[in-house]
Amino acid sequence: MKKKAVIFGITGQDGSYLAELLLEKNYDVVGVTRRVSTGNTGRISHIMDCPYLRLVEGDLTDYSSILRIIEEYQPQEVYNLAAMSHVGTSFDQPLLSFDVTGKGCLNILEVLREHSPYTRFYQASSSEMFGDAFTEQGGDKFQDENTLFRPQSPYAIAKLAAHHATRLYRNSYSLHASCGILFNHESERRGGRFVTKKITKWVAQFANWIESKERTVNDLHTEDDEIFFNNQFLDEIATPSFSKLRLGNLDAQRDWGHAEDYVRAMWMLLQEDKPDDYVIATGKTHSVRDFLKAAFNKIGIENYMDFVVQDPRFMRPSEVPYLKGSAYKAKVVLGWEPKVDFEELVSRMVEYDIQQAKEKEMIG
Ligand code: NAP
Ligand code: GDD
Repeated sequence: MKKKAVIFGITGQDGSYLAELLLEKNYDVVGVTRRVSTGNTGRISHIMDCPYLRLVEGDLTDYSSILRIIEEYQPQEVYNLAAMSHVGTSFDQPLLSFDVTGKGCLNILEVLREHSPYTRFYQASSSEMFGDAFTEQGGDKFQDENTLFRPQSPYAIAKLAAHHATRLYRNSYSLHASCGILFNHESERRGGRFVTKKITKWVAQFANWIESKERTVNDLHTEDDEIFFNNQFLDEIATPSFSKLRLGNLDAQRDWGHAEDYVRAMWMLLQEDKPDDYVIATGKTHSVRDFLKAAFNKIGIENYMDFVVQDPRFMRPSEVPYLKGSAYKAKVVLGWEPKVDFEELVSRMVEYDIQQAKEKEMIG
């Protein structure tokens, strides 16, 4: 029988990859989108004509729209990927963050408990819930399913509420409800305000700017022209007319993987007979500084700190200093392992953004 899945958050990074995966697996996919005044379907525009994908309007904070969607479509699987997912913003909008990211999950669980108890449910939990806690074993520091949760942001508190609600509904009402505790995952489609995309987009625009300068040098005719231009170019780079990349804390360490690998884990864990919670991570950690270095190296620049300014506006009132996940359980039980490593992730993001910047320049 053809399965039907509802995805809350289909317009987001993960939602778009998950929709592709489920369509490939022959599902009927119902994607829930929010009504917004400007378009929010850019990430799924390439699959919107697919006859097995249907978009319906709804909001996680609106119980009645969730009820209507579940009653109408009677899905076998529901994936809750919808959230106010930017940690920094959650400090400025803590109540909205809790309503969407915490209570929104409870809205779905209540609808499922009362109206569709055999539907399998996936909750997008987050490594952010660990906050500054980790497990120390044999000289190694990591987080796994047994690590204490010590959330450090309104976002993490909301995610933890949703995580515990999902566990409670699983144990108390026998719902097939599982949480993926996903560590940071990025991609070509990552939102522009997350640190990785902010870096790769800046690096790509800078690479194009340098390339356009070099093109001008090649067009020069006399040697004097060229020397004059090169000196001017070097001066500009020393104090770039191109504004510098402004970032916050460069010392935070994250376990970064690729979203394509992580949505595969979401699907795999809902196929298990027994619902449960799983950490999904690469097991490797890098600092924001490491990411910067790798992205600048891709365009041949070593002295990357000459182009970066630390700006207090991007510092958070409290920080998650260190994340490194152990996905041992997911490997043993689900057979899940990531395919894309840190170097490939950075390369793919920088290359994609360079291409995007070129296309934009051509259109402009
Ligand atoms: P994302 O790109 O920010 O996507 C979030 C999605 O939620 C968007 O489709 C957004 O719709 C939707 N949404 C926001 N508020 C909503 C509301 N009130 N009602 C219905 N939909 C709403 O996030 P992502 O990176 O794909 O992450 C997917 C999920 O995994 C999120 O829950 C996130 O918190 C969690 N997570 C992410 C990571 C990561 O590293 N990416 C790690 C762990 C957990 P619009 O497009 O209209 O804004
Ligand atoms: N966004 C941002 N912008 N972060 C910066 C910046 C900046 O200019 N400069 C430094 N950082 C630091 C943040 O302080 C944080 O320590 C780290 O870079 C990563 O920030 P984000 O990319 O915003 O991700 P996050 O780790 O806070 O949250 C992401 O991962 C969580 C899983 O651990 C989001 O995707 C969450 O939704 C997700 O749950």
